[in-house]
Amino acid sequence: MNFELTEEHLAVQQAARDFAQTELLPGVIERDEHQKFPYEQIKKMGELGFMAMMVDPKYGGGGMDTISYVLAMEEISKIDASASVCMSVNNSLVCWGIETFGSEDQKQKYLVPLATAKAIGAFCLSEPEAGSDATSQRTTAIDHGDHYILNGTKNWITNGNSASFYLVIAQTDVDKGHKGINVFIVEKAWEGVMVGRKEDKLGIRGSDTHSIMFQDVKVPKENRIGEDGFGFKFAMKVLSGGRIGIAAQALGIASGAYELSLKYSKERKAFGKEIMHHQAIAFKLADMATEIEAARMLCLKAAWLKDQHLNYDRASAMAKLFSSEVAMKTTVEAIQVHGGYGYVKEYHVERLMRDAKITQIYEGTSEVQRVVISRDVLK
Ligand code: CAA
Repeated sequence: MNFELTEEHLAVQQAARDFAQTELLPGVIERDEHQKFPYEQIKKMGELGFMAMMVDPKYGGGGMDTISYVLAMEEISKIDASASVCMSVNNSLVCWGIETFGSEDQKQKYLVPLATAKAIGAFCLSEPEAGSDATSQRTTAIDHGDHYILNGTKNWITNGNSASFYLVIAQTDVDKGHKGINVFIVEKAWEGVMVGRKEDKLGIRGSDTHSIMFQDVKVPKENRIGEDGFGFKFAMKVLSGGRIGIAAQALGIASGAYELSLKYSKERKAFGKEIMHHQAIAFKLADMATEIEAARMLCLKAAWLKDQHLNYDRASAMAKLFSSEVAMKTTVEAIQVHGGYGYVKEYHVERLMRDAKITQIYEGTSEVQRVVISRDVLK
């Protein structure tokens, strides 16, 4: 077993670290406060290849492995989790979904712009009454021969307004349950597609989360991905990979909070010495470092399994469950290390704590991860 990163991995990690420091750090507090989507920064991330890291170069992607993606996600998330959720959805859910299951025409038409910084994608599964219970889709797509007519509302859609293309999960035959669910590529510009209000969120406030309404949208049959009835399995498969990205996001939020805590505890003096020399602080840093390392191992293991084309459903659920809990715990402790300074925006850790919370909710709550893991453990 080799725990060493390759030179290529280290280069990707360094490039993401540099980008986050120079391009994302300036303005991150303001974007959070005013809920400003980082358009310019996301465009640059696309041009540098961060938005389609694993896509085959023949479609304009980076041709990298999932380990590189985890390393980059961690670095970007240390600084700006709003930018990294946009990156994660585009990479893991949208690009990977189209590249793995789409037709060649779909790849040429949609994957190429998504991989070459010309477009961003969104994944529309959740509904007002279908969050964790993903089979209960109310959005319908009725077969009209050469096209479907799509109607319904999707909620909490990351990249809801900034995306040009949506992957929409919809029920095509209620009687067939999850086997009557399909997935379609829908263009934002089509008639009947409406972007609803932007959510005013606790964290990841720079990301644009909207509800999306579809009213009698005509979707050509060639925009359905896969065989009839493949939509639910498609969703489960892309979410399983997506959980590696969100696990890495949680890891980054935790390690960002840890690095800030370490720096602060070396600078801040109390009772005649730097606070790192007080055991109360030193032990907190030791716990943070240990838990973050364990989370990193779970993320990298899930990524490695995916790169080896082995089953990673349980590993990605474990990585997301554990890393998101570490993110929450570490960010709360980071505020404690910073004392009163931790409670104000200037020191970043309060934002990281607010950002951490969503990692226990999206792409499957912690409870959903436990369902996935326990089913595998008990089978
Ligand atoms: N790969 C392939 N197939 C899978 C699968 C996987 N990982 N997981 C399940 N399936 C298949 C099953 O084999 C089954 O097929 P068969 O009937 O042919 O055997 C079918 O899918 C139904 O599976 P289940 O019976 O296990 O389904 P369930 O209704 O019990 O649901 C669940 C299980 C794990 C709770 C699932 O509904 C789930 O993951 N829910 C959470 C959804 C989610 O993550 N939402 C996030 C929204 S997207 C988002 O957050 C993006 C963002 O903004 C950042």
